[in-house]
Amino acid sequence: MIITSENDLAGMRRASEAVALTLKEMRAYACAGMSTKELDNYGSQLLEKFGAKSAPYVTYQFPGYTCISINNEVCHGVPSANRIIREGDLLNIDVSAELDGYWSDNGGSFIVGRDIYQQTDLVETSREILRKAINAIKGGVKINEIGGLIESEAKKHGYKVIKNLGGHGLGRALHELPDAILNYRDRLDQRRFRKDTVVAIETFITTDSSWAVEAPDGFTLIGDKGGFSVQHEHTIIVTDGLPIILTEQNGIWD
Ligand code: CO
Ligand code: CO
Repeated sequence: MIITSENDLAGMRRASEAVALTLKEMRAYACAGMSTKELDNYGSQLLEKFGAKSAPYVTYQFPGYTCISINNEVCHGVPSANRIIREGDLLNIDVSAELDGYWSDNGGSFIVGRDIYQQTDLVETSREILRKAINAIKGGVKINEIGGLIESEAKKHGYKVIKNLGGHGLGRALHELPDAILNYRDRLDQRRFRKDTVVAIETFITTDSSWAVEAPDGFTLIGDKGGFSVQHEHTIIVTDGLPIILTEQNGIWD
């Protein structure tokens, strides 16, 4: 959506606060020995407290309220009572929701407990890439320039990007135009960011995989070559200068 009124801005701020604080609280709550369903139920209660409705649940009949993806799972991990979080797991939580007709989206990856698999650098790199990408966005900047930045930063650190996933416009729905804000430079993409547009910018940085493929459950996307995969995501408003980061309260950069 393009923000055209104070009402829109206030609505997006409220929806964004709900998803950001839900993500922050879920991250603090997650620990080894807990099932992903237990963590998801906690997230569901938090969203409800804000009066927000889970976007994947409402939009895609997703069997859960938040997406919880572990290690080689790239995104859209389905919460399950049988999936127990273990020490050292790379956990990704993605929370998106609707509140009073406004939709916001955010996510973050982190290590549960001790860094057994030595993936702190992967997580830190993804966080920093998201920061650099967002800081480079303003009205008039080409969308594929940001993709190029994300991929070159990932490569610089010895990592890969997932090529078939990306950020997206949102606001009055979870997915709006511009779609496919990719993690690499698509030469054919001539689009530019426009001032006052709401977009979700998300990284998909991996150790081995370049493609996300659907698991038998029909929802979870898994890296084609295994390894570890991380994602960090903020919903922002494009301006003439630095973007307004609507989901900053999620604390993924703290
Ligand atoms: Co998103
Ligand atoms: Co998301």
